[in-house]
Formats: sequence, C-alpha cells, structure tokens
Amino acid sequence: MNLVLESLEKVAERIGDPTPLVYQRLFARHPEMQVLFVRDSNDLVKGEMLAQVIECLVDFTGDRRYAANMIPSELRNHENLGVPPAVFATFFGTVMETFREVLGDEWTPEMDNAWRHLLAGLDNLIGELAAAHA
Ligand code: HEM
Repeated sequence: MNLVLESLEKVAERIGDPTPLVYQRLFARHPEMQVLFVRDSNDLVKGEMLAQVIECLVDFTGDRRYAANMIPSELRNHENLGVPPAVFATFFGTVMETFREVLGDEWTPEMDNAWRHLLAGLDNLIGELAAAHA
C-alpha cells in the first residue's frame, strides 16, 4: 500500500480530523498567514484546503493525473491571495510533521522515507516553476 496514504489512514484512526493540528503548526511557523483565514471561523475552508492538498499528495505519489498541474495553478492563485510561494511550499512539510507527531511510535522509517521522497519531488516541481519565472 502507498505509505503516504497509510500514514493518513492511521492519523484518521488516531485523532479523526487532523485539520486543527495542521493549521496550529502552520500558524506557529507563519503567524502572518492567520489573517487570511479570518472569515473561516468554522474551519470549513481550512478543512477543504487540507482535503485537496492530501488528494494532491496521494495523486503525486501514485498515477500523477493532476497534481503536477494543480500545484502550479494553486501556487499562482495563492500568490494573489497573499501567500508567498516560499510559504506555500512549506505546507506539505507541515502536513508531514503533524502526521509524524500524531503517530509517534507508529511512524515507521519506511513512512519517513516515502514522505521524504514525496517532499523532494514537490520541491523539484516548485523549484522548476521558480526557475521558469526568473
Ligand atoms: C502555507 C501555505 C498556504 C496558505 C497560507 C494557504 C491559504 C489559503 C487560504 C487563505 C485559502 C482560502 C481562500 C479564500 O478565501 O477563498 C485557501 C484555499 C485553498 N487552498 Fe490554500 N494555502 C496554502 C497552501 C496550499 C497548498 C499547498 C495547496 C494545494 C496545492 C492549497 C490549496 C487550496 C485550495 C484547493 C483552496 C480552496 C479550498 C476551498 O475550496 O474552499 N493551499 N488557501
């Protein structure tokens, strides 16, 4: 089974919806991003964004039908919203760190490897975009 997907399923078994923890971590690191979510008092937008990010991650580790198009287009949309590309790029790592913390002993070296491979692939994709814009 896809180990990224497996980590996600284990997180859901342990704590249900990881949305609050992911955004707590994001806002601890980038407090200036919190203001962008002022209207999202019920966390619906945050939950929807995280769900789509996770679908993108699963797609990118699997048959890559759309993540390589969606990520560049969201990068530009988010730049217009006020999210700098360098901050946008950190979100994937924030998800990984949250999952690692939630799973504790259940976070395996194989999962860690799968995630590192995924994050490196995404860094490449985003790096290529930055180079294309330069
Ligand atoms: C630190 C990085 C990020 C920040 C601060 C951020 C911020 C936001 C904000 C403020 C919104 C709400 C926009 C609105 O008011 O309509 C939003 C929506 C969204 N974001 Fe992000 N974003 C980040 C990273 C990402 C990444 C990496 C992806 C995926 C590739 C993504 C995908 C989306 C999607 C799909 C929505 C629309 C959700 C909906 O349908 O309501 N975001 N984001």
